Amino acid sequence: MKVLITGGSGDIGEYVVKELKDKHQVTILDLKPPSKYPEIPFLKLNLLDAEEVLSKVKGFDTVIHLAAIPHPFDDPGDKVMQVNVIGTYNLLEAIRRNKIPRVVFGCSESASGFGIHNVSYKPKYLPIDEEHPSYPHESYSLSKYFGEVMCQEYSRAYGIEAISLRFCWVWLKRDKKAIENILKNKNVDAKNWFSSYIFPEDVAQAYRLALNYSLDVSPPFESFCITAADTFQKIDSLELIRHLYPESPPPIKNKEYFQKNPYASLFDITKAREKLGFEPKRNWEGGF
Ligand SMILES: NC(=O)c1ccc[n+]([C@@H]2O[C@H](COP(=O)([O-])OP(=O)(O)OC[C@H]3O[C@@H](n4cnc5c(N)ncnc54)[C@H](O)[C@@H]3O)[C@@H](O)[C@H]2O)c1
Repeated sequence: MKVLITGGSGDIGEYVVKELKDKHQVTILDLKPPSKYPEIPFLKLNLLDAEEVLSKVKGFDTVIHLAAIPHPFDDPGDKVMQVNVIGTYNLLEAIRRNKIPRVVFGCSESASGFGIHNVSYKPKYLPIDEEHPSYPHESYSLSKYFGEVMCQEYSRAYGIEAISLRFCWVWLKRDKKAIENILKNKNVDAKNWFSSYIFPEDVAQAYRLALNYSLDVSPPFESFCITAADTFQKIDSLELIRHLYPESPPPIKNKEYFQKNPYASLFDITKAREKLGFEPKRNWEGGF
């Protein structure tokens, strides 16, 4: 399969390239060249340049879309919105006009409003699954939400097969200090993203599975929550929920999920397990 990976020179992109490069004809699209894999074809492109994107993004079977500003902490909100929303729009237009059949979008659990957030809402229920309403309200979470909505609507209108992988905080080397601190102290007050996390190898696994996944729904669009199997807390998940919402914890939607694994992630990966065949291979107990 001819696969274009936007953001393939980035920290997660590197793992996705590694996972796919021996089985597929991979090309990387990015602003900067990759630091590894010099043998992989590289398209130096800015996704904000609509004309260039339209003329160069063609002839692929699938586009994996990871190029983005990956959090709102270092850039003004309007820049995050511009790169992540307009960049995704330009890419989807090239996909549509150049008849590329499938896109796999790099979404985020932040699109739900319970990852990176300013306002702490109470979920309607836990664990949060793909059916839970989304409440994004700051630049990054909004940009990921709109990105997914654009993929869904291009799928509905033009029949493009679209899969949105809503993965959570990826444990990358650039966050080594914070991760080592968590592993040492097990900080129960870590409210953001409900203490969910994932190793990059497991994100790459989800992309590999999404490439061959047979979409049997109409329109051909599906989203999947993708996290490690557990949280990074020592306490079990029901206790974590009581800790986060001491007054009145949200109802538990999927009781069996926490019976099977008392430490299960508060983002429900059941659909990814059942439909994609996703099974996280790494967790914090194996060290960073
Ligand atoms: N890191 C996480 O914890 C996390 C969690 C959930 C989702 N994501 C998503 O995963 C994707 C990759 O994140 P990452 O952590 O590897 O980030 P990263 O910054 O390491 O990689 C992003 C890549 O996109 C490229 N890029 C940025 N703007 C571009 C543009 N205008 N045109 C072309 N290329 C451009 C950058 O050069 C970079 O190589 C992002 O879409 C991010 O939102 C990340």
